[in-house]
Amino acid sequence: MHIAKKVVENLHLLRVDDPDTRFFEGLWEIPEGITYNAYVLATDEGSVVFDTWKGRYADEFVEAVKEVTPLSKVRYVVLHHGEPDHTGALPTFLKAVREAGSDPLVLGHPMIKGMVESMYGIKLRFKPVKDGETLAVGDTELRFIYTPWLHWPETIMTYVPEHEALITCDAFGAYSIPPKAFDDEFDDLRWYEKHVMRYAVNVIGKFRQHVVKALEKIRSAGIKVSVIAPSHGIVWRRDPSFIIDIYRRFGEGTVTKGKVVVIYSSMYGFVENIIDHVVKELELRGLTVTTFRFTEYEHSRLSELLGELADAAALVVGVSTYEGGVVPSMEHVVNLIAKKAAYPGRPALVVGAYGWAPTAGRIVKDALTKAGYEVIGPIEVKGALTDEVKSALNAAVRELSEKAT
Ligand SMILES: Cc1cc2nc3c(=O)[nH]c(=O)nc-3n(C[C@H](O)[C@H](O)[C@H](O)COP(=O)(O)O)c2cc1C
Ligand SMILES: [Fe+2]
Ligand SMILES: [Fe+2]
Repeated sequence: MHIAKKVVENLHLLRVDDPDTRFFEGLWEIPEGITYNAYVLATDEGSVVFDTWKGRYADEFVEAVKEVTPLSKVRYVVLHHGEPDHTGALPTFLKAVREAGSDPLVLGHPMIKGMVESMYGIKLRFKPVKDGETLAVGDTELRFIYTPWLHWPETIMTYVPEHEALITCDAFGAYSIPPKAFDDEFDDLRWYEKHVMRYAVNVIGKFRQHVVKALEKIRSAGIKVSVIAPSHGIVWRRDPSFIIDIYRRFGEGTVTKGKVVVIYSSMYGFVENIIDHVVKELELRGLTVTTFRFTEYEHSRLSELLGELADAAALVVGVSTYEGGVVPSMEHVVNLIAKKAAYPGRPALVVGAYGWAPTAGRIVKDALTKAGYEVIGPIEVKGALTDEVKSALNAAVRELSEKAT
């Protein structure tokens, strides 16, 4: 299913809905699906196509472009980013455009030519663009802005001054298949924030400082942004500050006071016992707890867990010792937290269970400390909870609560 709709005069959105990708990048659970957004700017000297879609929608992409411009009029293709969710349809599209009698010039960061040519075994008629470079196309102008690491090193944005529109590729995008294309078609957009945060932490969590840099770069460029046109999700033309604000909070790691994320695994319920106690104590202290678990009965979604960490004021991790190390599910989770959700200065409590020689707590503490967390514990238990362990846990919870509120 696709949408071809005017964003503003001469600038069209081409959006395809992908409900079939269950694991974005082969990693992140997205039961809510995702969209791929491309854009077409029509000028009196031909059309400019910005990005494409994922390869499986290549034929549909060609049809969608035809709904807004004749293929023979396609003069430029701007590639903001090489990743296949945006370049996959390019080979089919270029072939169709050439058959229609045009040989468009492909524009992008110098790195993208090699990436795309290698990925698809094609040759591009290519012109690299410089940071801040402008290009006049007919009666309009394009201004290219380098935004490295949002999401790859070659990623750029395009500003169209005529429409005060910033075409931003992955930045300002989100998971989900919104029932409408534009922000002004919704009365309430609060539901969207969680999809934004999940997407942002999953995809560019490691690079969140670059979001802060890009926002500053856009601000200091003195450009007025009335439209934000990302490559995934809703297009912003009534209130771009809504999505800018979410990305600013993501980039800066702004916390929601009193919010605690608890993540644990438990093979037989020993860690779960400790966690139940900790959660009860946290809630008694008025904190809001969101829990993710890896047990015999349930495996939480990693995409959600990382998304919830974006604004958590504190983290609790529960692990058991496993073959002289960390139980594998939590080894993976802690690794992901260190990569995607490293928040220097945030408090974390590590608790654990063991059978004969505890190792997991220390390993997790070290990994979280390296990721910047201020770790309390580990408090590790051999078997059942005793009064002594309970009071140690209560003291740790008190310390964590004070830091989280
Ligand atoms: C496959 C396996 C490996 C384990 N390896 C260790 C170990 O190396 N050292 C240790 O002290 N306990 C080890 N244990 C024991 C668990 O850490 C202990 O039973 C713990 O209480 C389990 O907590 P849980 O049921 O919440 O996961 C192991 C248990 C299993 C099932
Ligand atoms: Fe990307
Ligand atoms: Fe993308």
